[in-house]
Amino acid sequence: MPQWRQGLTKSLHQTRSMPESRYVQLASVDESGFPHCRTVVFRGLTDNNELVVISDTRSEKYQQLLKRPQAQVCWYFSKTREQYRFTCNATVLTAQQDEALVREQWNKLSDAGKKQFFWGEPGTPRHDSAALQVEGDFKHAPEHFCVILLAIETVDYLYLRGNPQNREWHEKNSEGNWVCQALIP
Ligand SMILES: Cc1cc2nc3c(=O)[nH]c(=O)nc-3n(C[C@H](O)[C@H](O)[C@H](O)COP(=O)(O)O)c2cc1C
Repeated sequence: MPQWRQGLTKSLHQTRSMPESRYVQLASVDESGFPHCRTVVFRGLTDNNELVVISDTRSEKYQQLLKRPQAQVCWYFSKTREQYRFTCNATVLTAQQDEALVREQWNKLSDAGKKQFFWGEPGTPRHDSAALQVEGDFKHAPEHFCVILLAIETVDYLYLRGNPQNREWHEKNSEGNWVCQALIP
C-alpha cells in the first residue's frame, strides 16, 4: 500500500465521527481552461487508488471531466490539521459503462440522497417555490446518475502540526512504484 494511502486511511479513521471530513473540493477545467471547483462527498477508495465520487451527467463537472479528465482534489482534515492535494485523472461512468459499480453506489444512498436525482435538470431555472415534484423509481439508478473515478497520480501532503510543518511529495517512479520526497513547506 502506498505510504500516502496508509496516511489517508489513518486520517479517515481519526475523523470517522465527523461527516464533514468526507467533503472534498474537486476542481476541473472547462474547454477554455477556466477552473471550476466544488464540494463533493468522498465515497471510497478503490484498490487501484481511485477516489470514488457520485454525480449527475447533466452537471457541468461531468461535461468538463469527460472532455478534460485532468482534475485536482483538495482535502483538509481540520481535526488532524492535514491537507492532501491529489492530482487525478478522471473517468466518468454511467450504468452503460459499468452497471455493477453504478448499482453498488446507488444502493448505498439513503432515500433522501436518491431523491435529489429526481428533482429535475440541475442548474435550470426553478419555477415553483414549493417543494419540488419527485417522480421516479428509487429502485434503479436513473440514466443520469454517474460515478466519477479519480485515479490518483500525485499527492502533495501537508501536516500543519509540528514546527516546522511537514510536507511530502508522492509520485510514481519510472518502475511504477510510489516514492516519497520530504519538501520544505
Ligand atoms: C457538502 C456538500 C456535498 C456535496 N456533494 C456532492 C456530490 O457528492 N456530488 C455532486 O455531484 N455534487 C455534490 N455537491 C454539490 C456540488 O458542490 C455542486 O454544487 C453541484 O454538483 C454542481 O456542480 P457543477 O455545476 O460544477 O457540476 C455537494 C455540495 C455540498 C455543499
